[in-house]
Amino acid sequence: MTHQIIPRALPRLLCSLILPLALGTLSTSAWAEEPLSDADKAKAEKLFKTQLCMSCHKTDKKLVGPGFAEVAAKYGDDPKAVDTISEHITKGGKGRWGKMAMPPQPQVQPDDVKLLARWIMSMKK
Ligand code: HEC
Repeated sequence: MTHQIIPRALPRLLCSLILPLALGTLSTSAWAEEPLSDADKAKAEKLFKTQLCMSCHKTDKKLVGPGFAEVAAKYGDDPKAVDTISEHITKGGKGRWGKMAMPPQPQVQPDDVKLLARWIMSMKK
């Protein structure tokens, strides 16, 4: 009896456990490693201006908030960096860089937030 059940259950068990894990790893590392195309870069720069990030941020140095190159350096090789800073962009935050808080940015669409996060991480030297 049992030797019939196990071989049949095993592939399903493998699928339900390993597939989501493998996919999860793939999708995060794809975000981290995929280089930005010129079109993506241009779109991110436009968002930076139209979403008013530039009223508080510069790419190379501190303004009200941290310079994006500093952010990229801080998160360095963290494979989850894009996800982490995407969340911090949408929800805002304080205390990571100084006393000033960053207000939440719920008006920026999730795809645009992710593109901004990838653009910021691409400034890593
Ligand atoms: C009103 C000013 C203001 C605006 C507008 C603003 N930020 Fe910020 N941002 C800040 C401040 C201040 C901090 C530092 C917060 C802290 O110390 O935790 C910050 C932090 C950050 C960080 C670092 C988060 C981390 O995980 O360390 C990123 C990335 C960022 N901002 C991106 C953006 C983007 C992209 C936009 C536009 C959609 C934006 N910010 C708009 C003020 C602003």
